[in-house]
Amino acid sequence: VSAVPAVSLPCASPPLSLYVHLPWCLRKCPYCDFNSHEAGDGIPDGAYIEALSRDLDRELPALAGRPLISIFFGGGTPSLFPAPALERFLDHLARHAQLDANAEITLEANPGAADTARFRDYRALGINRLSIGVQSLEDANLRALGRIHDAGQARAAVRGARAAGFDNINIDMMYGLPGQQVRGAVADLEAAIALEPGHLSWYQLTIEPNTVFFSRPPSLPDDDAGWEIAQAGETLLEECGYARYEISAYAGSAPRCRHNVNYWEFGDYIGIGAGAHGKLTDARHGTITRTVRHRIPQRYMERAGTADAVVERRRPAADELLFEFMLNACRLTNGFQADLIGERTGLPPERIGRALETARARGFLSAVGGDVVPTATGLRYLNELLQLYLP
Ligand SMILES: C[S@@+](CC[C@H](N)C(=O)[O-])C[C@H]1O[C@@H](n2cnc3c(N)ncnc32)[C@H](O)[C@@H]1O
Ligand code: SF4
Repeated sequence: VSAVPAVSLPCASPPLSLYVHLPWCLRKCPYCDFNSHEAGDGIPDGAYIEALSRDLDRELPALAGRPLISIFFGGGTPSLFPAPALERFLDHLARHAQLDANAEITLEANPGAADTARFRDYRALGINRLSIGVQSLEDANLRALGRIHDAGQARAAVRGARAAGFDNINIDMMYGLPGQQVRGAVADLEAAIALEPGHLSWYQLTIEPNTVFFSRPPSLPDDDAGWEIAQAGETLLEECGYARYEISAYAGSAPRCRHNVNYWEFGDYIGIGAGAHGKLTDARHGTITRTVRHRIPQRYMERAGTADAVVERRRPAADELLFEFMLNACRLTNGFQADLIGERTGLPPERIGRALETARARGFLSAVGGDVVPTATGLRYLNELLQLYLP
């Protein structure tokens, strides 16, 4: 742990979530830079679940007296895990941790690696939210994205999730796809809305280092077309009853994602599993610690339950905390209460006041009463806004 002056945090700890990373996929998508690995001959689900339980055990002191408000099984492709394996983990968790009465428990599913029977089993375990990676409902787009499923399977997955008893379903969609035009992108979004998901995440495709698309870039819509798609899509979503609450997140008949909102509001989360990140506040000692687990699944499994599973552990300095807070909270379209900055980072009010004033003077934020809200310019030029807070 680096020796930095501890910030003086108030006594209340922020809400606590649990992120569980399940790192395998059937095939690696050419745009994906997540910690996901091709499953090959199958996944060692039993051994991995045991590793997760050992990993969790080391975090139990942090869980004492703090009920979990959400659990998120992310990936990778969590829907490759059979329900009985997840059940063993959830049983272990229930024996040792406290769950909030309304805890949101999400699992990410890939339409090419799931079926209604499995969804039903997940629902029976208490998983109450499914996030389905649809990406597009055009077969040509899905092929260009290297997805393992077609549009028919994506539709079937959404129907299957509903038939299995899920009433809180998110679908992930992407735009700005290879060769896509404005009209095609809007039609794709219309097709997604026609499936009536309760929540929709709509991401612009980005080309990330260390991906196939980075070394062999496809031809993507230019910035102007990307902007036009974004404007048309936002209008369409709002007209169809999907309220934008974060850069890429829209809540329709289902609530906002509690787990992600906790990240954006700079809450705490324990992150277990290969490559998982965590952030924990120790209100008593006035410290915030960030952790990262070993990213290679085999190495992670060997080390889980020992201190060696954690490859990075650091305490961000005060100016880093301010940057990290803004990086997250300025994604929320309705902004946040100014007091939250002090509550979550321990920074003194004068420092916060100066920081907000700079962004307000540049037209990136409006600060009225206690509310800090990113302006349309702030949301569009989020990177420029964040430059003001670089440590
Ligand atoms: C962690 S992925 C997991 C979902 C699941 N593995 C799947 O792909 O079906 C979460 C979402 O991030 C989005 N995403 C992944 N890579 C992206 C990229 N390079 N640009 C934009 N969105 C991306 C996709 O919509 C994806 O569904
Ligand atoms: S299925 Fe999802 S996590 Fe897996 S490689 Fe594709 S985008 Fe990445």
